[in-house]
Amino acid sequence: MLIRYPFKFETYGAVKLYDVTRTVSLYGVDFEKRFGAFSLTSENLIRIAESTAVVVPVKDEDPLVLEGVLRAVPLHSPLIVVSNSSTKPLDVYSNEVDIAKNIYQLSGRSIIVIHQKDPLIAELLKSEAPDLIDESEGLVRDGKGEGLLIGTLVAEGINSRYVGYIDSDIYIPGAVLEYSLIYYTALAMSKSPYKMVRISWGFKGWYGEEFLLRRWGRVSGVVSSVLNSVLSRGRKFETDIIKTSNSGEHAMSMELAKILGFASRYAVETYELVHLLETCYLGLREGSCRALPNTVDILQVESRNPHLHAQKGELHVLEMLVESLGIIYHSKLADQHLKNTILRILKEFSYEEEPPKPGTYRYPQINTKKFLDELLSRSEISVAHGF
Ligand code: GDP
Ligand code: CO
Repeated sequence: MLIRYPFKFETYGAVKLYDVTRTVSLYGVDFEKRFGAFSLTSENLIRIAESTAVVVPVKDEDPLVLEGVLRAVPLHSPLIVVSNSSTKPLDVYSNEVDIAKNIYQLSGRSIIVIHQKDPLIAELLKSEAPDLIDESEGLVRDGKGEGLLIGTLVAEGINSRYVGYIDSDIYIPGAVLEYSLIYYTALAMSKSPYKMVRISWGFKGWYGEEFLLRRWGRVSGVVSSVLNSVLSRGRKFETDIIKTSNSGEHAMSMELAKILGFASRYAVETYELVHLLETCYLGLREGSCRALPNTVDILQVESRNPHLHAQKGELHVLEMLVESLGIIYHSKLADQHLKNTILRILKEFSYEEEPPKPGTYRYPQINTKKFLDELLSRSEISVAHGF
């Protein structure tokens, strides 16, 4: 893959936000013939792919779509499926386990499948991450953010340098391959140990009566503009640098994951940016930025394949919006002016209340290798192939 170097960046404290850049060409290794773009050598491509674990969160998606996603992630990257799918009355989860096993048998790739509600996960995490556990159930809480956090612990447990996330409801496997190649290439473009790449979908669509590939997702357009207004007012220069507030598809170095806060459910992607701006921009002088003296590099790359995923309805859109804006509303970034802006936006979506504060988690300070060894040796439902 050939990715154009970003045209510009803006720094806010130690947070270095790169403007959205694009892929010049989808496949190209050992091919750097012009100065303006970057590609990996074949050797580096394989080395980085091997050190990037790809986490796929899944909750009751169409198994055929999940299978397409799993088959599209390059074989060199270890795959980690974190499922919160039903086990009864229909056992959707066992079907997912079988898909993974089949892929392993055919390819020999490394693949781990764990269930978010595996009682062992709750048992192993409850002392270091009590908030992650639902009190009444005694199991890990529901939510995509919770799934990503567990997947990241597993990625650290297998010693990955990088972790990338890819949703399981993406209909076009070619898009998944493209996201993976973008992760490998863009992560190598930054020299900071603290780095992240976020995908900005070139076009987005849903299956429906009207076929239209849109430039802007509804939630990310609104939430990104709120974050941009925080930056604009802080610096007194208007900016539109953030385009990926809700990017489910993103990857980062393990060093960054370990200093990042994770949020519950659908607030997870927005909170990554909010937390970095809280600690490494606003909190810089108070010493709350653990990345110093390095910068935290955030790259944003626009993908070429259209992002077609499951259409989950208006209520789902509102839920995501309330959670993402809620995490900004209750953060250090929000003064009264911003809070009013958020309330006004929510009103336009007929949501009249103050958004609740989503739960947040620190990255648990545990021995992740031991956690994974214990989980895999004792669990009755989580499985690993090829390790
Ligand atoms: P959207 O794509 O942002 O509209 O949100 P989705 O509802 O498609 O969710 C994104 C991804 O997270 C999908 O792959 C879901 O299957 C997955 N997901 C949603 N909720 C959960 C959960 O509670 N746990 C896990 N592990 N995954 C989830
Ligand atoms: Co989706």
